[in-house]
Amino acid sequence: MARLFSPVANTIARASLVAAVAIPVGAIVMGSVISRSPANTNVGIAVDQPVPFSHAHHATELGIDCRYCHTSVTKSSSAGMPSTETCMSCHSQIWTDSPLLEPVRKSWAEGKPIEFAAKNDVGWVKVAKVPEFVYFNHSIHIARGISCNECHGNIQEQHMTAKSKPFFMKWCLDCHRKPERVLYTDEQQPELTPQEKVFAFYRKIQEGSRLSAREMALKKGRDYQPTAEELRKGRELVQKMDIQVKTLSDCYICHR
Ligand code: HEC
Ligand code: HEC
Ligand code: HEC
Ligand code: HEC
Ligand code: HEC
Repeated sequence: MARLFSPVANTIARASLVAAVAIPVGAIVMGSVISRSPANTNVGIAVDQPVPFSHAHHATELGIDCRYCHTSVTKSSSAGMPSTETCMSCHSQIWTDSPLLEPVRKSWAEGKPIEFAAKNDVGWVKVAKVPEFVYFNHSIHIARGISCNECHGNIQEQHMTAKSKPFFMKWCLDCHRKPERVLYTDEQQPELTPQEKVFAFYRKIQEGSRLSAREMALKKGRDYQPTAEELRKGRELVQKMDIQVKTLSDCYICHR
């Protein structure tokens, strides 16, 4: 129990205890905590980046696999951001005089991270994040075949990356209570492992293959209402994968 919450969370938890006792004052405290939370802001707004990187060009038109750039997404808690070297594996040969790529070439020449001249800072600006006191892990979700788009929206269509979902606690919990809503098998390629299915989805989009109604919704980043039959299959997958739905919304799962 000792490290259940980080100091930040403790402060917030204390604030919520205050709220429970002194509701009028507490409500204001909680209100300000929630509105300042990164989860509540910037949904759908494209973020200014040091280089205008396009997922539509690279992931969909060129068909580069997500794992080529987000190398740790199936192996660890964080997805990982591409290094300058990853960009230069192509851009030392193509589009070599594009002015847009100047920060990448400079970074490569000087052996320093990509500089964000306009912001006097270095590196890519993160759009999707949860507060420090929340534990999140990519590899666990990908291993269960949960699509990147379930959480990041229509990323493969975006020219400038924007956050698509507010990462509220309720949003995590809604799925943790009913994972059967999002678990599915690709009926055209049932032999794929759940993890392979996540990445095969983008190849289908690139090749223009037929998509199921669920996949169409995922492609567009829209919410989807599974049919009764899909829910039944989802429940089967929950059992088959031995997902412990009863404990999946316990506090310690995400606040350890
Ligand atoms: C596998 C090869 C490959 C990799 C890796 C790659 N790119 Fe590209 N990139 C291309 C190609 C090909 C184009 C031209 C695409 C087009 O216009 O259809 C391009 C275009 C671009 C453009 C537009 C240039 C212009 O003047 O319009 C930018 C900016 C860019 N890439 C940034 C990056 C960054 C940043 C990285 C690393 C995170 C990266 N690319 C990694 C192949 C690659
Ligand atoms: C060629 C390299 C490359 C490929 C391929 C690529 N990405 Fe990215 N991705 C980046 C770069 C660079 C950024 C940071 C700039 C930005 O946000 O657009 C990024 C940012 C993201 C973000 C936002 C993270 C954040 O919080 O800022 C998500 C989500 C993401 N990528 C998902 C994907 C998915 C899903 C795929 C496969 C369909 C994919 N990426 C393929 C290079 C790549
Ligand atoms: C269950 C929801 C969920 C799924 C599925 C998911 N992500 Fe994320 N992603 C998140 C959350 C939450 C964060 C913010 C994590 C943080 O702040 O520590 C994030 C952050 C990121 C980032 C920013 C860098 C980082 O690691 O924090 C990238 C890049 C990214 N995701 C790519 C992907 C890719 C690629 C996939 C699919 C292969 C994917 N994500 C699937 C929820 C998800
Ligand atoms: C779209 C559905 C979905 C969303 C959204 C989602 N999760 Fe999950 N998450 C799952 C499933 C399914 C599992 C169970 C994996 C298992 O048991 O193997 C899981 C497992 C986890 C685990 C590992 C549990 C363990 O047993 O160790 C953590 C931690 C976690 N999620 C955190 C989060 C957080 C934090 C968020 C919100 C930012 C989130 N998840 C959003 C579906 C989701
Ligand atoms: C599936 C993941 C998950 C579980 C389980 C979970 N939380 Fe959270 N919690 C989060 C996320 C994500 C946030 C950050 C939300 C934000 O930034 O607005 C959060 C934020 C909080 C906060 C800060 C105030 C707020 O609402 O933003 C408190 C306090 C908290 N959680 C308490 C709990 C308690 C108590 C439990 C058990 C009953 C619990 N959490 C279970 C994901 C989870």
